Amino acid sequence: MLASTSRCVRLQSAIVQQRQRALHDLVTSVNKPYIAYGPPGRSANTGHVATVFGCTGFLGRYLVAKLAKSGTQVIVPYREEDSKRHLKVMGDLGQIVPMEWDLHRDDQIEECLRHSDIVYNLVGREYETKNFNYDAVNAKGAQRIASVAAQAGVGQFVHVSHLNASHDSPSAFYRSKALSEDLVREAFPAATIVRPSIQYGYEDRLLNNMAIWAIWWKLNHAKTKIRPVHVLDVAQALANVVSMSSLPGTFNLPGPSTLSFKYLLELVSTVTYNPPSVAPVVPKRVALVLAKAAQKVWWPALSPDEVVRRYIDDVDLPGDWDKFGVTPDEIEDHAISYLRRYRSADNYSRPVVFPPSREPSESYNVA
Ligand SMILES: NC(=O)c1ccc[n+]([C@@H]2O[C@H](COP(=O)([O-])OP(=O)(O)OC[C@H]3O[C@@H](n4cnc5c(N)ncnc54)[C@H](OP(=O)(O)O)[C@@H]3O)[C@@H](O)[C@H]2O)c1
Repeated sequence: MLASTSRCVRLQSAIVQQRQRALHDLVTSVNKPYIAYGPPGRSANTGHVATVFGCTGFLGRYLVAKLAKSGTQVIVPYREEDSKRHLKVMGDLGQIVPMEWDLHRDDQIEECLRHSDIVYNLVGREYETKNFNYDAVNAKGAQRIASVAAQAGVGQFVHVSHLNASHDSPSAFYRSKALSEDLVREAFPAATIVRPSIQYGYEDRLLNNMAIWAIWWKLNHAKTKIRPVHVLDVAQALANVVSMSSLPGTFNLPGPSTLSFKYLLELVSTVTYNPPSVAPVVPKRVALVLAKAAQKVWWPALSPDEVVRRYIDDVDLPGDWDKFGVTPDEIEDHAISYLRRYRSADNYSRPVVFPPSREPSESYNVA
């Protein structure tokens, strides 16, 4: 009887101890205190609340998954009802909060971020639509979200730009990204601006597109050089910002190697066991005319600005991965995961024979 009473007391005191908050549980962001509790993992609570604008896109789903997995509550603003369904299951019950929003409505933006201590802006579009041109979505949209976040007293603002963002670029998309950086800095001076290069992954517009539309990657005789980066590496870098008190500045996130379209087309062909495309090289002027016509027939098709971008090499700036504690992976390490589905059934179980040898110009420079 005595033994069982003392066991009961020990158990009670253990529970009380577990419930007590220690100082290390109380972390303060710029102006909002938050309390971390629970074991690490999906059922934990880091105490952070993050809003991810653009969460329904390619990069967004991986960022939401990483944040939710570590126990951060994530507000997921969406436009179309079905576009957020896959996000809801990424976190524990109540940790993923979908909210409908419109980029034109300040009040809805404010509702989405008023309880958050970190806001991510991943909103962007690589082609223009009837309602939004490049500046409206990439630059003015970013400015609007950054201003509302600043007014609401949000601690951290992270904006995703592009490695090739430049005011002097022949591409309107890259110019709008450069403008977005200026407007975001003006509205939220302590903003973290990240500039990834083109990303690959399950839903990418690089490997998938090369496997189906090789002809449009042969523009410029496939000599254009890019620095592809794994979407999971970019998502991890973004997720790591949550645990930093502040990281103001602009940071480049290119892939570790500079590779030509020719090499990447060879890689796709080798991994999928599909013969290399024998399609002719389409001259730039013809491609532009076809792209303009395609916009009127099918949407979204290759846009004229995308044709222009296929002639622009990625800039040769060093990566800032060390600031985020991430080391980017090589594309050859993951290509099979994303390209296996393009193999014909005859070849499905054959072993992989790759990579094709890189040319000396395809430098291996760890960023
Ligand atoms: N993917 C890349 O290779 C790459 C490389 C460098 C930089 N980036 C940049 O990284 C960010 C995320 O890229 P991503 O590949 O994830 O893009 P994505 O798949 O095209 O997703 C874009 C996101 O922005 C939202 N969006 C677009 N137009 C909008 C509008 N008018 N109003 C409200 N929301 C709008 C989309 O919402 P809906 O689902 O409702 O349309 C979606 O959630 C973008 O800023 C992009 O420019 C991407």
